[in-house]
Amino acid sequence: AQLEPTVLVIFGAGGDLAWRKLVPALYDLYLDHRLPERFTIVGIARRQQDDETFRSHLRQGVDSFSRRGKSADEPWREFADRISYLAEDFTQPDAGALLGRRLQELDEGTERPNRIFYLAIPPGLLEAAAGMLQRLGLCRDCQRDRIVVEKPFGRDLDSARALNRLLGEMFVESQIYRIDHYLGKETVQNILAFRFANSLFEPIWNRRYIDHVQITVAEKVGVEERGGYYERAGALRDMVQNHLLQILCLVAMEPPVSFDADEVRNKKVDVLRAIRPIRPEEVHQLAVRGQYGAGQYGAGAVPGYRNEPAVAGESVTETFAALKLNIGNWRWQGVPFYLRTGKRLSAKVSEVSIVFRPAPHQPFPAAAAEGWQPNRLVIRIQPEEGIVTRIQVKQPGTRFLLGAADMQFRYREAFRGTPPEAYETLLLDVMRGDATLFMRADQVECAWSVVSPVLEVWETVPPTDFPDYRAGSWGPEAADLLIAKEGHSWLQPVVT
Ligand code: BG6
Repeated sequence: AQLEPTVLVIFGAGGDLAWRKLVPALYDLYLDHRLPERFTIVGIARRQQDDETFRSHLRQGVDSFSRRGKSADEPWREFADRISYLAEDFTQPDAGALLGRRLQELDEGTERPNRIFYLAIPPGLLEAAAGMLQRLGLCRDCQRDRIVVEKPFGRDLDSARALNRLLGEMFVESQIYRIDHYLGKETVQNILAFRFANSLFEPIWNRRYIDHVQITVAEKVGVEERGGYYERAGALRDMVQNHLLQILCLVAMEPPVSFDADEVRNKKVDVLRAIRPIRPEEVHQLAVRGQYGAGQYGAGAVPGYRNEPAVAGESVTETFAALKLNIGNWRWQGVPFYLRTGKRLSAKVSEVSIVFRPAPHQPFPAAAAEGWQPNRLVIRIQPEEGIVTRIQVKQPGTRFLLGAADMQFRYREAFRGTPPEAYETLLLDVMRGDATLFMRADQVECAWSVVSPVLEVWETVPPTDFPDYRAGSWGPEAADLLIAKEGHSWLQPVVT
């Protein structure tokens, strides 16, 4: 269906997110004819610059980050005609006049466009930006006006609650789109399709057949230029509270009755509420933190976290986190969920491994079973998107020996073309008014409740052994011990 006319107002338009993610995604949607016919972008930031300077800055971002690579002159010019810039400091009490006027101009003529206010700004500025919208009544139509809020959504349970309360006083919940960009990734969405559109796996998707689950989101990059933000965040806040717990919800949720936004989100909240709270005295058994020291990727040496820009020389911020979680419900009782994430690890890979219990009885001679491995189903989120099932087969030869082999589904082989970037999917959903892939207030709060006890203990007991893993490794030894306690080990990513 044709999308309704839309104005997208980007607060923080001079920032990295707009440059690297939002505008390249919008440009790709434009080239695919997915944007509304009447579509306008208004960028807002403090800096004085004219429309042309702003557009050419954005074009550099598109050239570097669009799925299609460098932009061609003509389509870019047509797209850029829809972009304008306003220099406004929304922290000032009388700010907003320019924006108000621009929106009024855009309202003239035919149908009033829907308004999307994308707050791509640091959390400390949210209140000012939202306050300005409310003061001027710019986001008042709860059917047609929406705001999009980026993470971090608070820095703990209390601040997230306060933020929800504040936004709740200004807007209705259905207008608020809290982004977790992992939910826009094709393969993350595919977890739902895989689980609930097939009859093959759902009957065994429970404690009777599944031994444990591992969720790994490993990055090769370090903290880059984001030391200022990251120093106050750390891996648990930056990745676990949002991306990893959202993946866990999709893996563990009960089948939804429909694809209605609230139905799907209710089922996810049920999972978060069922996670057994970690007691303070258990934190050292169930959670591990780490920080990267200097290391090596091939021939290239990289500095340790404490030597990165804007990072304190004695920083105690964790760049690695691993958790063992238990979900106390009928389906998952007794099945550990191990989560780990870190920067400067050996590879960039995000995947979920479902590890199955052994077959109840092995009729084979002991020698045959030597190469035995448990069945494992791997949902590969990135970089090589797909699903791999590791099964046991008879090795060719006159002796009866078992060996592992993989059955594979690879996106790039099964389907032509590159899948859309997460931000393309999510921006389009905001324009359509579909909040299924966005975080509801209670979801965010429940996710904070899961990590809060760990955050609190880590804050009161500073680590003494940082840095404790080498850049280019798979993280601190303590993470191996965490999982080894129950006879498990972290599985190497499946290389295909
Ligand atoms: C962001 C985190 O949310 O996700 C970053 O703030 C992290 O620290 C990034 O690098 C990872 O996203 P992706 O899509 O590259 O896996």
